[in-house]
Amino acid sequence: MTRIVVVGSINMDLVTLAPRFPAPGETLLGERFLTVPGGKGANQAVAAARLGAEVALVGAVGRDAFGAQLLRGLAAEGVDVAHVATRDDVGSGTASITVAEADNQIIVVPAANASVTPAQVEAARTRIECADAVLVQMEIPLATVEATVRLGHALGVPVILNPAPAQPLPREWLARVRYLTPNQHELATVLGGGADEDFRELMGRAPCPVVLTRGGEGAWYREQGEPSHQRGFAVDVVDTTGAGDTFNGALAVYLNDGLGTAVRKACAAAALSVTRLGAQGGMPTRAELEAFLAGRAGA
Ligand code: RIB
Repeated sequence: MTRIVVVGSINMDLVTLAPRFPAPGETLLGERFLTVPGGKGANQAVAAARLGAEVALVGAVGRDAFGAQLLRGLAAEGVDVAHVATRDDVGSGTASITVAEADNQIIVVPAANASVTPAQVEAARTRIECADAVLVQMEIPLATVEATVRLGHALGVPVILNPAPAQPLPREWLARVRYLTPNQHELATVLGGGADEDFRELMGRAPCPVVLTRGGEGAWYREQGEPSHQRGFAVDVVDTTGAGDTFNGALAVYLNDGLGTAVRKACAAAALSVTRLGAQGGMPTRAELEAFLAGRAGA
């Protein structure tokens, strides 16, 4: 069984469906409100677990109703939460999400996620040592992201860094990353490049292999030389929240099949994820993903 360790955020998503996005200062009547589990770390952990991986999550929640609910949800998905700390002095992370116009707007309050420490990563060393891949994103302190990249690299375990939300990163760190998985905007921010620079040129400037997501267009991936393209799978879009997380979780699970296959399966998993509401709502099981791919054999 594929073993994955995820180091990252855990949020309660407070989701409002609206007919359109409000303008600054405007009050709109929404259509529906729901609270669903989210956070990039938790989402990637659940995506990998649904695809059959053995997954451990390193993170933190508050000792509050959201924290308890989030931990129960993760455990029900089969994610090992032994390395998720429960904090007394701070609440659980939240994300206020507006879904409208086939897109979303998100404001994250990190709360307990800001307390995920490098020491927690070190405490998970034995899990990381025998993992097939480590996934980390940037809704937790940068020092903890760095500790994850350094430890994974030192142990020879591939680290997938999903640089979201993006900020400039030292090239010296990036050189230790096995795959960087940004979108175009994130890659420009990470490398300190111009927002108008061609994404293929940006990919060539990264000191590590890049898998660049392009929404419905699919993904481009490059280890060396010219980047290759995997087309996206056409589906009816309900909610794009968590599509990138589903992509990353699936990429980690299928990495041992080779990068091209992993990217194709990750694109298919991400496509399925947007057909239902909520970051984790549409994440496919392995059987659902295989059935979907069997029906799209040429894609
Ligand atoms: O990537 C989607 C996630 O970003 C949401 O679940 C939200 O919690 C934010 O972290």
